[in-house]
Amino acid sequence: MKNVSIQFANDQQPKYLQLFNSIKEKISQGEMKPGERLPAIRSLASQLGVNTSTVVNAYKQLESNSYITAKKGSGYFVSNTKSGKQDTHFSSDLGLFKDTSVINFASATPHPSIFPIESFKACINDVLERDKGFAFGYDESNGYRPLRQSILKYFNREYSISVEDESFLQIVSGAQQGIDIIGKVLLNPGDYVVTETPTYDGAVAAFKSRGARVVSVNMDKDGMDMEELEKKVRICKPKLIYIMSRYQNPTTVCYSQEKLKELLLLAKENNLYIVEDDSMSELCFEKEKSTPLKTLDTGNEYVIYLKSFSKILMPGLRVGCMVMPYQLLSDFTNIKHTSDISSSGLIQRSLDLYFRSEKWDEHLQYMKEIYRGRFEFMLNSLENISKYGFKFQKPGGGLYFWVKLPRYLSAKLFYQKCKSNGLVFIPSGIFYDNMHKNSDDYIRLSFASAGIDQIREGMAILEKCFQNMNQDV
Ligand SMILES: Cc1ncc(COP(=O)(O)O)c(C=O)c1O
Repeated sequence: MKNVSIQFANDQQPKYLQLFNSIKEKISQGEMKPGERLPAIRSLASQLGVNTSTVVNAYKQLESNSYITAKKGSGYFVSNTKSGKQDTHFSSDLGLFKDTSVINFASATPHPSIFPIESFKACINDVLERDKGFAFGYDESNGYRPLRQSILKYFNREYSISVEDESFLQIVSGAQQGIDIIGKVLLNPGDYVVTETPTYDGAVAAFKSRGARVVSVNMDKDGMDMEELEKKVRICKPKLIYIMSRYQNPTTVCYSQEKLKELLLLAKENNLYIVEDDSMSELCFEKEKSTPLKTLDTGNEYVIYLKSFSKILMPGLRVGCMVMPYQLLSDFTNIKHTSDISSSGLIQRSLDLYFRSEKWDEHLQYMKEIYRGRFEFMLNSLENISKYGFKFQKPGGGLYFWVKLPRYLSAKLFYQKCKSNGLVFIPSGIFYDNMHKNSDDYIRLSFASAGIDQIREGMAILEKCFQNMNQDV
């Protein structure tokens, strides 16, 4: 049994909440281990010089948040369920995200009702008319050349990414395949990879499937904590660093230019690659659009730039793209060939026509307008109920809000409460790999799949649940 020591602050927060937070922290940090017995109520109360009711209330709060379990006649014990491993319980809820009777703030891909079906159908028909059976043959493993040219033109125009020609582009069947191929080409079992924390769980899973060891670095408001990163790079000598430079998933953070420059310098000094996953930069709601790290990598040496079209077009196309350093080209194309020979020729050709037409720009404008409306509506709704004590950093773009719950709330339990009231979102555990002190503190609220009416309904449920949980405290 650990001695629980606490310095009560002389602030507005009740003592039982301060005690609750202090013990919660010890459990989250691993200072108090699963199965460990907590001090008896009377002895802790007298040790801390507080009423027994203070300890009783703190223990009740810990119990209702699943941090501890009461065993009749024996006292309170640290639960086994709050292990810091990635949340897997959540996968059983994936069906719920498609259930139309449930308000969906979980999904981060656009709703099929805003997919550009008619204009894309016209491109498919044009390809069939033009290419006939050739549209159904195997395409080159590095991708259909005209498509690579049109994507490069777009990258040049929008982000000043200036590689010499389309040979530096590799088409992949979605960014997820890109991450998987990066792992296969660059990682051997035991190699270290650095990721942000919290981060996209699909990337962590792909790196781990190669036997890599994933080391995580905390996020600040303008990108990774550089001091922590430098220290971990020095100690672990990673092969690569995986980042999302704009509207990071899930924190919505954008890197400052200073941090991007520091990152590139770090890559040069330590001869490592940076994988820049840039899936949402088009959905920018600010006047000033930031540039990706790849733009700074003028020699095309250190940054593998990865683009998904799932958030800004349609996920089921299963087409993404990588821009990469010369020395990696042939290995990447070989592994792509081993994975699935080539991405769908029909879809690549249709996408090429789509990018070359004015339809692509029109669609981007349309998506931005729709999402700006939803973004502002959710922002106002959150601000209107801010009295419940949650916090968030206003995103400059993207598809979600990353909300820090008041200290007395567990994200997992709050999720269960909202789910039983007909609202789903993503609680933070899924984005953290190891036992992390914040892994149960945040929720990600996405407006990708919910229209204004559903956002209104969902926010009302959220408010009701905040109210109920507040009363329970
Ligand atoms: C950050 C990030 N990268 C990559 C992917 C995978 O994208 P794709 O559908 O292009 O495979 C996702 C999907 O959610 C994502 O959030």
